[in-house]
Amino acid sequence: MKKHDQHKTPLFDAMKAYHKREVVPFDVPGHKHGVGLKEYRDYFGSPMLELDVNSMKCLDNLCNPISVIREAEDLAAEAYGADGAFFLVNGTTIGVQTMILSAIKPGEKIILPRNAHKSATTALILSGAKPIYMQPEVNENLGIAMGIGLDTAIKTMNENPDAKAIFLVNPTYYGATSDISEIAKIAHEKDMLVLVDEAHGAHMRFHDALPECAMSQGADMCAVSLHKTGGSLTQSSILLLSEERLSYKEVKTAINLTQTTSASYLLMGSLDVARKQMVMDGSGILTDVIELSRYARKKLNAIKGIYAFGKELVGTPGVYNFDETKLGVNVRGLGLSGFEVYDLLIDEFNVQAELGDMYNVLAIISVGDSKESIDRLVDSLIAIAEKYGKKKL
Ligand SMILES: Cc1ncc(COP(=O)(O)O)c(C=O)c1O
Repeated sequence: MKKHDQHKTPLFDAMKAYHKREVVPFDVPGHKHGVGLKEYRDYFGSPMLELDVNSMKCLDNLCNPISVIREAEDLAAEAYGADGAFFLVNGTTIGVQTMILSAIKPGEKIILPRNAHKSATTALILSGAKPIYMQPEVNENLGIAMGIGLDTAIKTMNENPDAKAIFLVNPTYYGATSDISEIAKIAHEKDMLVLVDEAHGAHMRFHDALPECAMSQGADMCAVSLHKTGGSLTQSSILLLSEERLSYKEVKTAINLTQTTSASYLLMGSLDVARKQMVMDGSGILTDVIELSRYARKKLNAIKGIYAFGKELVGTPGVYNFDETKLGVNVRGLGLSGFEVYDLLIDEFNVQAELGDMYNVLAIISVGDSKESIDRLVDSLIAIAEKYGKKKL
């Protein structure tokens, strides 16, 4: 049962109240509510620049939050089923770095996937942790890495009982998840921490048809990019904590090793509002998002040479479950590379995909999509198939 009122947005409310007061600023930032950056203020409008402020008494301080930021973080923690939450303004990158920095001392072992994001690699450099790599499963037909097989995780943990933590990704960029519950159970029996990079899974907690989020599967910490699929502004993320094996204070100290002392309120306020939106309306919004992604798959899979992959992959190696809002489109059958289709989409159709690789393009379907945007994507891919399929560019 929720003990906080999830309708509330304490940080955003405090920002609006500050704005109303028309304070005369003799603090940084030096543009002083946008007055000193006129061209920018004229383009973006006054309220945005007036709220680009630094920490002050009425707006709390991200480095040691005790009032409105802390209240907003507590609401976020409850929303994700965690004991604690830390707002982040340097993306999930700093979340991943903090998880590893707070869990591992120099020379200690951490088990992680060979294809973990570069933030994990930088965390190894910063922490002096010793990596023990696990190979993810590879789908040869699609030419992409999937999740970590349960057998691989168990074998690696058995071979390295002295490892301090296991690091997992939930889900992969393309939507595959691993069996985190089972891995976490075994890891905890071996006194290992479970750290999860949920950069691409911020929305999953809020709809039953999506894979489970890591905190409800026993993770000790989890970094979540709300800015990717939860609706907040770019760079804003949240680090979630279970206090069973880790302390709030230590994790806060680890964040403050590398995070700015001048956190953006525009970013933090957007986390507050995005959390509220997800808790209050996420289920309905995500029902539409899932329906849109199913509609897109159905239309695309009727086209010769295109394979929009999805939940049928569940049960194949490295796919314990699948996030359908990731629309991976295999274009190998068109005789085109994913890179070429990615370029054609933007250059000829003004449609921006998330990424292209050798055989696939990836579209992220999220809170901001509509039937119209999906039709633009689908129609553009169909036009590319007709115009360029099986032909050399
Ligand atoms: C798997 C994964 N982890 C972590 C990150 C870093 O997240 P952010 O861009 O929020 O710093 C990314 C970014 O794309 C990612 O793909």
